[in-house]
Amino acid sequence: MDEEMPSEVSSVEAEVARETWITRMGFIFAVWGSMTGLGNVWNWPFKVSVLGGGPFVLIYLVLLALIGIPVVLTEFVLGSTFRRGFPGALKRIHPGGEFLGWFTLVNAAILTSFYVVIIGWAAVYAGYALTMAPLPGAMEVAPGVAPTFLDQPYFFVNVLLSPLTVVGLIAVWIVIFIIDYFGTRGIERSVMIFFPLLWIVIIMMALFALAQPGAAEGIDFYLDPLRVDFDYVEMIGKATGLSFFKLSAGMGILTAYASYLPRKGELTNSAVTTSLLDTTFAFTAGLAVFPIAATAGVLGAGGAGWAFIAWPGGMTGVGGNLLGFVFFIMMVLLGITSAVSLTEAIVTAVMDKWGWPRNRTVIVIVLLLFVMGLPFASWFEAPGSAGGEDVSWGLYLLDIFDYYVEFFGLAIVALFMMLIMAWVWGGSKIIDAANESGDFKLPSWYTWVVKIVSPIGIAIALVFVALQGFYMPGVIADDPGTAPLLFQIPFIWFGIVVIFAIILWRMKGVD
Ligand code: TRP
Repeated sequence: MDEEMPSEVSSVEAEVARETWITRMGFIFAVWGSMTGLGNVWNWPFKVSVLGGGPFVLIYLVLLALIGIPVVLTEFVLGSTFRRGFPGALKRIHPGGEFLGWFTLVNAAILTSFYVVIIGWAAVYAGYALTMAPLPGAMEVAPGVAPTFLDQPYFFVNVLLSPLTVVGLIAVWIVIFIIDYFGTRGIERSVMIFFPLLWIVIIMMALFALAQPGAAEGIDFYLDPLRVDFDYVEMIGKATGLSFFKLSAGMGILTAYASYLPRKGELTNSAVTTSLLDTTFAFTAGLAVFPIAATAGVLGAGGAGWAFIAWPGGMTGVGGNLLGFVFFIMMVLLGITSAVSLTEAIVTAVMDKWGWPRNRTVIVIVLLLFVMGLPFASWFEAPGSAGGEDVSWGLYLLDIFDYYVEFFGLAIVALFMMLIMAWVWGGSKIIDAANESGDFKLPSWYTWVVKIVSPIGIAIALVFVALQGFYMPGVIADDPGTAPLLFQIPFIWFGIVVIFAIILWRMKGVD
């Protein structure tokens, strides 16, 4: 049936009803909002410091040019050409493409379900910094004394081992729901406010941080330009995975957002601008975080544990509770604009396939994602945990799924999407579509970047990550009772994603 529906016809017909962004600026800000999230403040700076300092930043920029930006651009082209969400657009290239589309969205839905749990913790922290109300059910640090930010790890353990995780989760989902209920209007309006606000906050924080006595030590920890002992294999593998996570690539989001563009999208320009804005924000966040951490004496290895244990205590020690509040509210807003984007990518795909109205779709998808997140918000204590890091079942599951979704899921999607777009559809068509508008024209040799360089780069990165071995949080791997069960997780992850993708793909729709 696809042969009877040439893409020109279907895209013209889709034009009638589809929502659009009010301004091109709105599109750019919305994409930036999606790209710039929790990852900018925790993930990026810490991977830089752990994996290779300044030289890592250079490698990241090279990979951005060779792999990241071509993938972003290709997702844009897909959305703006076919004016559908990810599955519907890929279906117009090849019927099997729709399977990849749903695989992508199921994988990214798992990511979102635990990502919002983390935003929920940040919301609890922000609420605490604002009100200083003792946490309900707090384990006491002394008789009658509830833990504060400074009493770590008790404060974090207290949050993790209490239903507050679910309270935070619900609060954040309510905000996401409200924004997405109004579709592109809601997204555009919210990012128009958040964009300037978040930039002002991160720049002021960086200036404040650089004025602290620990600034030099912090920057040295962050960028260490003289380091030479790199593990290039790990660096390249992880930098590629990180760039997809950062750029919202391999999630179907960029295609969904580009499908709302009016005709002249200036795609190349938008891809470069948004990717560089995201990297700049991440770089600035590093300048804000490390000098404060060094001043407080809490420079450390990063990760969820560090972010919610050492950092909040150290930070409030240096900048008081006001800084604590500003920081965590910033995390909440950064996270929400990312989570909204994936919710919207799923919503638009469901609306395309089954012709549901927006309000019903948003309610169903938000409820579904909320329920999927509950295991990650589980506050029951996991066996073998000694208090400190990795205490609840929720955090264990989150740690493991995060690794597989981020380092394998996104890259697998990006690889197959590039192959379908550049080889089945046509590499030169990608370049033509990108060059349709805007003053920045890609040269014709760029066809080989999307056909050869970028897919091979992704494949190499996947092999490099696999060569690092598969990750298990230490306590679980050491615990004979739980290790066998949890070792199945990569297979459970892959199985779940494939089965649901097949079901959604085979279901009858109207599109
Ligand atoms: N880019 C985001 C970050 O850096 C991650 C992200 C993008 C994301 N889109 C998402 C997370 C959708 C969850 C759902 O943090």
